[in-house]
Amino acid sequence: MKHLLGLKDVSADEIKNILDTAEIMKKRLDEDIKKFDELKGKSVITVFFENSTRTRLSFELASKYLGANAANITSTGSSVAKGETLIDTVKTINMMAADILVVRHSSSGAPKLVSENVDCSVVNAGDGMNEHPTQALLDMLTIREKKGTISGLKVAIIGDVKHSRVARSNIYGLKKMGAEVVLAGPATLLPSQLEELGVRVYTDVEKAIDGADVVMGLRIQLERQRAGNFPTVREYSKLFGVNEERLRLAKPDAILLHPGPVNRGVSLRAK
Ligand code: CP
Repeated sequence: MKHLLGLKDVSADEIKNILDTAEIMKKRLDEDIKKFDELKGKSVITVFFENSTRTRLSFELASKYLGANAANITSTGSSVAKGETLIDTVKTINMMAADILVVRHSSSGAPKLVSENVDCSVVNAGDGMNEHPTQALLDMLTIREKKGTISGLKVAIIGDVKHSRVARSNIYGLKKMGAEVVLAGPATLLPSQLEELGVRVYTDVEKAIDGADVVMGLRIQLERQRAGNFPTVREYSKLFGVNEERLRLAKPDAILLHPGPVNRGVSLRAK
């Protein structure tokens, strides 16, 4: 694999291979060892045209831990703010002997477009409403670590599925790894074609969470939607927020995941 643009076209064997490697890497970090040379001599550039805390820092630190030269550009601090196009920007970075570009962009398909215009490898760090493959890989690693397996588990993904690239990558990945995936949210935030991906879709959160091994909450992606999908955030939260009472419907040893950022009191709430 030269690029990682999404999990739609990644096989179960490739996902397993990535998770097995990540498990070894994580053990090293748990042993407090942070200097390796797997990426020695390589340059990793994070190109973030959208805000991020977790993903950007994860890539930057991981690159440094693995011995790479790591650098970052953002839209506000680069010549993009002076009107340079995405393609001109990434071609310029490519000419500086970059080996890996990690790209986040608000437009679905932007990392694929980048990959078609550069020689180096491209990793999708989240593109619009399309995919966020590394978040889903992290979620699958956590599930496997906590549950020992992914196959046969019921995973309930709750909230704004329509605008969630995390949900889409998790659906592709979890289904390939043999999990049963169920979704719940308001009808306006559940795209109709999702059932074609082999998932069950509910507008009743309780039905989705019932008997689940894993419950995943999602933030309302207000930056990606027009008003009118639900009356108020308060009402949305009451009907579709994951709370303690709803979690009691899941299996007693169920785990709760949220990709973050969490809007506390909305997608996750105490009551
Ligand atoms: N989960 C995630 O992508 O978080 P950031 O937006 O902070 O990177």
